[in-house]
Amino acid sequence: MHSQGYLYMFDTICSPGQRNDILYQWKTDEHLLARNTFIGNLYNEFQERRGAPALLRVMMANFILEGVHFYSDFIFSYSLARNDKIPGSAQEIRYINLDENTHLWLSAI
Ligand SMILES: [Fe+2]
Repeated sequence: MHSQGYLYMFDTICSPGQRNDILYQWKTDEHLLARNTFIGNLYNEFQERRGAPALLRVMMANFILEGVHFYSDFIFSYSLARNDKIPGSAQEIRYINLDENTHLWLSAI
């Protein structure tokens, strides 16, 4: 549902080619790739070596991903909405934000 929400927003403001460039930018942008690789490696480590240390690292990775990175991205949309720019997109981001809150709570239990 998150991906569909982002696709809908992108499809209203850019061409399908531009949309795909944005969606797959994580593969070519060195900073995004490094950020995703760091998080992904911690998830992979937990798959391969289950135990308390790996669990703690994957929980921290989840907090970094869903609590820091995602929220940093949401702020951009909220800032635009505060200035009466694309308020509908901000509402959609709010729904996604609520869902991410749930993920954070679930990973803390
Ligand atoms: Fe999430």
